[in-house]
Amino acid sequence: MKISFVGTGYVGLVTGAIFADYGYKVHCIDVNEQRIKELNEGKIPFFEPGLEALVKKNVASKNLHFTTDYATAVPDSQAVFICVGTPPLSNGEVDLSQLTSAVEMTAKHLKGYTVIAIKSTVPIGVEVMLGEIIKKHVKQGATYEFASVPEFLSEGTALENTLHPDRLVFGVTSKKAADVLLGIHKHISGERIVTDLRSAQMIKYASNTFLAMKISYANAVANIAERAGANARDVLYGMGLDKRIGHAFFKYGVGFGGSCFPKDVQAFYDVALKNGYDFTLAKATYDTNLQQVTLFLDKIRAAVGGSVENKTIGILGLSFKPDTDDIREAPALRIMKQLVEEGAKLHAYDPVAIPKVQLVPFVHESSQIHFADDAYGVMKDADAMLLVTEWNEFKELDFKKIKQLMKKPVIVDGRSIFDAQALKEMGFSYAQFGNGSKS
Ligand code: UDX
Repeated sequence: MKISFVGTGYVGLVTGAIFADYGYKVHCIDVNEQRIKELNEGKIPFFEPGLEALVKKNVASKNLHFTTDYATAVPDSQAVFICVGTPPLSNGEVDLSQLTSAVEMTAKHLKGYTVIAIKSTVPIGVEVMLGEIIKKHVKQGATYEFASVPEFLSEGTALENTLHPDRLVFGVTSKKAADVLLGIHKHISGERIVTDLRSAQMIKYASNTFLAMKISYANAVANIAERAGANARDVLYGMGLDKRIGHAFFKYGVGFGGSCFPKDVQAFYDVALKNGYDFTLAKATYDTNLQQVTLFLDKIRAAVGGSVENKTIGILGLSFKPDTDDIREAPALRIMKQLVEEGAKLHAYDPVAIPKVQLVPFVHESSQIHFADDAYGVMKDADAMLLVTEWNEFKELDFKKIKQLMKKPVIVDGRSIFDAQALKEMGFSYAQFGNGSKS
């Protein structure tokens, strides 16, 4: 069986490599020639645990091929999975340019019957517009059907999420298309849901917005607990024991980032508005998330005596979450930008994300930002240390050593990973979200 993937980002590359490992002939197509060249040499364009070994193994066994040429991949494929980026435009709408170009190129090379399965997160009903594009380019004799097969993988655990998803969603227009997709996915565990295209597209938006809302709810509870003299850690733990609520995606801190949650919440809000519904819950989810960074900055200023100007601030963790080098919509970048504007000198460290952060224009242009080789490197002569992303290695720091290195023993913990009591006993000034209890 031959299948193709268009787009070699997290979704296309991970899913393609996994299907190749099950013995399918997989072609991954990308317009980026440099990326294809590197992938053929076994170089992965981003950090994802386990992916490099899987790609190398399947390139060696000749099940996994990388190409820029649709003609070598599409004609004999049973299904073409579209996995290109659908980033937000500056007006908040979804940029569909990669999607339309991928569908146009695919259309030109269709042969026989092919399922065009869209894995990218797309606005509900996009198949109408895509159908018009296909009709213009498809050759006589070729037939196709669109399907929606949304991806639910999280960066850092992408292989596990793809191999053992909670559910597989197939949005289709016929039993024939459903059978093709069910057949291709026969090795993957998880409950199958076969539905129509729009319902499948909506499962993705509604799930991500719900999870983001759950995080914003946890953040709001933490902010209230802090002000009302309660302890958010205990409040959320107590709530989560109710099986209807649960503990997952219920951690408070500087807020969510990444390539999905911020854009999907915004896009779902737009979908609702276009359909005549004012989805205030989605807007509040987004605004609450932005507010967490503002509140974190307030805590930083308060911790250093009111102003960060000419202060040296150490920052631990720059990626949007641990176990990835992805910095898209990372809270750390917004925090750094604001601190630089207010005249602070920054020493930053992240286990893997530094090369990507160095390419960000405001970072590249600033003489106030320096990077350290390890966590202790950011502490030297610092007036305060910030914890922004909770990498595991930060949970085992030697605070005696840190106290000696810092100019002032001040910690602002954006993810509440440190032991507040122990640090206070060691003489640190320690600030975090959510702890208003006096005990
Ligand atoms: C997410 C969804 O989980 C996935 O299903 C979807 O397909 C793509 O978007 P991802 O962006 O990789 O995946 O990250 P995820 O692990 O979900 O974390 C999102 C953000 O929420 C991170 O910034 C994380 O720090 C934050 N978060 C998560 C919290 O602040 N609190 C939590 O309790 C959980």
